[in-house]
Amino acid sequence: MQKITIAIDGYSSCGKSTLAKALAQRLNYSYIDTGAMYRAVTLYAIQHQLIEPKTHEINLSGLLEALVNIEVSFQFNTHSRSSETYLNGVNVEREIRTMQVSENVSKISSIKEVREKMVALQRKMGRSKGVVMDGRDIGTHVFPNAELKLFMTADTTVRAQRRLDELSSKGQYYTLEEVKQNLLSRDYEDSHRKENPLIQAKDAIVLDNTDISREEQLEFVLKLITDLQLTKDRNASMASK
Ligand code: DC
Repeated sequence: MQKITIAIDGYSSCGKSTLAKALAQRLNYSYIDTGAMYRAVTLYAIQHQLIEPKTHEINLSGLLEALVNIEVSFQFNTHSRSSETYLNGVNVEREIRTMQVSENVSKISSIKEVREKMVALQRKMGRSKGVVMDGRDIGTHVFPNAELKLFMTADTTVRAQRRLDELSSKGQYYTLEEVKQNLLSRDYEDSHRKENPLIQAKDAIVLDNTDISREEQLEFVLKLITDLQLTKDRNASMASK
């Protein structure tokens, strides 16, 4: 079977990365978490005092100057069997998932130059296909010709509860309302920014996972991929005749 590009976009905390990881594992594809890349840049800005902690104001000229020094990469951890995010060679997988990063990442990811740098890297990482990439603009901007595009959504309270559980499992405690407000404000900022906002690609398949299990969701998408590849192979063989 020919390898394809799978683009998964959607709102915050609706299970994009869970699905993307499971798909990558089943298909033996690579998985790229593009949100992690924007989170890593945000972490850099926090560590280098380029964001005012209370007002969230960004030192834009400082950040633009520092962009050349920011290197984001992924490495596969054979113990956890998942890919982990590195910022300038340091594993930051844990640090990028804190609420402090979540509160600032939408602002950082709305900066044109930051997006240009990350998108160029994402295209490079996915150029040989066989990739599952999740984010906000993958099907609309990064890989507009992706063979499969999914747009994920779920009920806001369900999403907030999932996020709350994830944070508390890492020893970070918040109220459901605090987490919900963070999701809603990120969704708003991500959908209303000028640069590549979060919108549903016209040819994306909508997946609302409020009431379906992870397994059902995975089987549904695997079936879509099988159907798609059968059509692709059939068309290729007809074209060669
Ligand atoms: O997927 P996530 O919640 O880890 O992403 C963090 C933020 O990064 C999200 O609020 C918006 C931004 N983002 C983006 O602008 N474009 C992407 N392709 C991925 C994430």
